[in-house]
Amino acid sequence: MFKPTAFIKEATEQIQKTVKGKALIAFSGGVDSTVCAALVNKAIGDQLIAVHVDTGYMRKNESKNTKKLMEEMNLNYRFIDASKEYYASLKNVTDPEKKRKIIGEKFIELFDEVANEENIQYLVQGTIAPDWIESGGELRDTIKSHHNVGGLPEKMNLKLVEPLRDLYKDEVRELARELHVSVSEKQPFPGPGLAIRIMGEATPKRTDIVREACAIVEEEIEKASSEKKMTLPWQYFAVLLPVKSVGVHGDKRAYGQVIAIRAVESMDAMSCSFSTIPHDIIDVISNRITNTLGHDINRVVYDVTNKPPGTIEWE
Ligand code: XMP
Repeated sequence: MFKPTAFIKEATEQIQKTVKGKALIAFSGGVDSTVCAALVNKAIGDQLIAVHVDTGYMRKNESKNTKKLMEEMNLNYRFIDASKEYYASLKNVTDPEKKRKIIGEKFIELFDEVANEENIQYLVQGTIAPDWIESGGELRDTIKSHHNVGGLPEKMNLKLVEPLRDLYKDEVRELARELHVSVSEKQPFPGPGLAIRIMGEATPKRTDIVREACAIVEEEIEKASSEKKMTLPWQYFAVLLPVKSVGVHGDKRAYGQVIAIRAVESMDAMSCSFSTIPHDIIDVISNRITNTLGHDINRVVYDVTNKPPGTIEWE
């Protein structure tokens, strides 16, 4: 059985032994990187510099809230708005693995810059077991390259520190509670962000559409769950599809895009089953999406695929 207090003690000692100098942590504000930052900060204090990159593919208000979180945790931090750069680098890119590689490499480029300026030698990442298992080891096929693994260049100047690499999500949440990390119950959000929830080119305009749709799905599901109309799924979001369909907008023919609602139950992200959202909640979500995004979206569908054969994210 996993024992959070023993893990914290051992990990802190191990970090103090291996990290001799300044370290940088890629701080997304999710459970994994926040727990990792709390742990490493406990071990080496201000020698740790948290870097949050706003890639432009973050959820609504996410980067703003992450900045607040780094302040609340008294972290030594840097906030980089790189959204314009990211949008430019994904121009005309539609292949999911290419998107992941480009985003991962850009992260490393930015971290390398900070590392050079600050004379940093270590890169701390909140990688957990499913991230590297699914990115392909010696015996495994690459299902998808999780950005914090697959995006790393072969030759990297920074030494990698991954204190959570053998843990699964439920264990990381236990650690989070033990370390009083405020985002302990936050749902997972992939490193490449909304870019992999947009099938096809992740333009700024299409990103704004999926950002708004994700916010609506989150708000309505969290509201329904707080009113005890349903239990909170393990993960829940919206995906923008690369197809168009015919509909009506006002009294005119419309040819608009499609949003898929995805909500899943899982233990460790290695497998999942789709969640049962009550029909009246789906109805509210669908109406809100088409009312708010009516010029672009005229159809909403509900994903009823388990993993396997699907994966949780669509790319
Ligand atoms: P999949 O789509 O592989 O997702 O079934 C499993 C879990 O991992 C999240 N995910 C990622 N997390 N970097 C991450 O840190 C990534 O590149 C990445 N891709 C997927 C996904 O949201 C789900 O919780």
